[in-house]
Amino acid sequence: MSQKFFYHRRTLAARLTKLITQVAVGSAAASGVFLTAPRRTGKSTFAREDLRPALEEAGAIVLYADLWKDPTTEPGAVIVETVREAIGRDEKLMSRLAIAPGLEAVSVGRLKFNVNKIGIGKEIGLTKAFEALSDEVKKLIVLIIDETQQAITTDEGVAALFALKAARDELNSSKHYGLRIVCIGSNQNKLAMLRNSSDEAFFGAPMVQLPLLDKDFVDWYCKWLDLPNNLDPSDVFQLFQESGYRPEIISAAADGIRLDPTDDPKAILVRFAELVRAQVAALNANLKMVIHSLTPIQSAVIRVMGAKGESFAPYESSTMELYAKATESTGVAPSEPIIEVEDVQLALMALLEKKLVWKTSRGVYTIEEQIVVDMLRDDGLLESLA
Ligand SMILES: Nc1ncnc2c1ncn2[C@@H]1O[C@H](COP(=O)(O)OP(=O)(O)O)[C@@H](O)[C@H]1O
Ligand SMILES: [Mg+2]
Repeated sequence: MSQKFFYHRRTLAARLTKLITQVAVGSAAASGVFLTAPRRTGKSTFAREDLRPALEEAGAIVLYADLWKDPTTEPGAVIVETVREAIGRDEKLMSRLAIAPGLEAVSVGRLKFNVNKIGIGKEIGLTKAFEALSDEVKKLIVLIIDETQQAITTDEGVAALFALKAARDELNSSKHYGLRIVCIGSNQNKLAMLRNSSDEAFFGAPMVQLPLLDKDFVDWYCKWLDLPNNLDPSDVFQLFQESGYRPEIISAAADGIRLDPTDDPKAILVRFAELVRAQVAALNANLKMVIHSLTPIQSAVIRVMGAKGESFAPYESSTMELYAKATESTGVAPSEPIIEVEDVQLALMALLEKKLVWKTSRGVYTIEEQIVVDMLRDDGLLESLA
């Protein structure tokens, strides 16, 4: 896309490039950097349009894997595919790999290496693949993984992270040119799960809050939107904040105004504000409806999960008591007065299906989005359940 479609954050990109590239071997940042900001606030755009070019300008090779690009592809496979693509693009490396000793060479006419030989448990594991790439390009490699939390929802994804950990440690040794892994995600609790446990691949990696798009962005955007009647960027910024700093809500409101033009600048602002607020309200109303149509046990489980946060343990006896307390407090007793472990299992499955809850491949649960916790708290539904 042409440059004018994006507002660039070059200073931020330069600052992060420094953090990512200039680390002493063995420091925590060498194990990876985590970037987080709420959904739809510009993380992926920043990674692709600003961070990637800045890293490349600093002399690194950048690989970008979006674990959400295609929901039917398993996250571990997306990571492997990204490495295959990077190697496949390098003709010299491909022919070197094809004649490497110990590898069966296909020598019909031109030598051609089959990238499908790269993978976890394949002839060429990720470490070997990264070593080959590193030695060929003789540059620092940065792997950006967008929506990284998805990797810990499957066994293959977890295996890929472990393979990356080994590759990273090898490439960061004096024999090669270094590998940094940048993990992007919108939910800090989920990213923290990747980072905090010592057997996970990213122990100790710094968590950086990506700043939200600011007033300068809104000024730029107002110019670019080219509305029929100029809106004051200060008013638009106020509404941008109300929208949760999500450019798409502002864009949709602008489209609404173009469809329904008026010459009166006051009327246009009123209409613009209505359109922004209506979208925010519709998003929330949808979620509220899903929450309000839960069965008493499902509701009890999600409320206890919300109140407990990170320490939620679904089947502990103290948790089972809290479910009972939660169903009593709403006055809607379940048809079976005693809540059994199987009831909780079924409720968790239903909550997963409704996308209110998220689960790692190891069976750790958390609420999908912070806004759900906020709604439950605002409705007083988390009281005395911790
Ligand atoms: N810097 C920017 N300039 C212009 N539009 C942006 C910018 N950042 C985000 N957007 C727009 O906002 C929307 C959400 O951005 P995205 O990067 O997908 O968010 P996230 O990855 O945080 O969910 C997209 O439609 C994108 O085009
Ligand atoms: Mg994104």
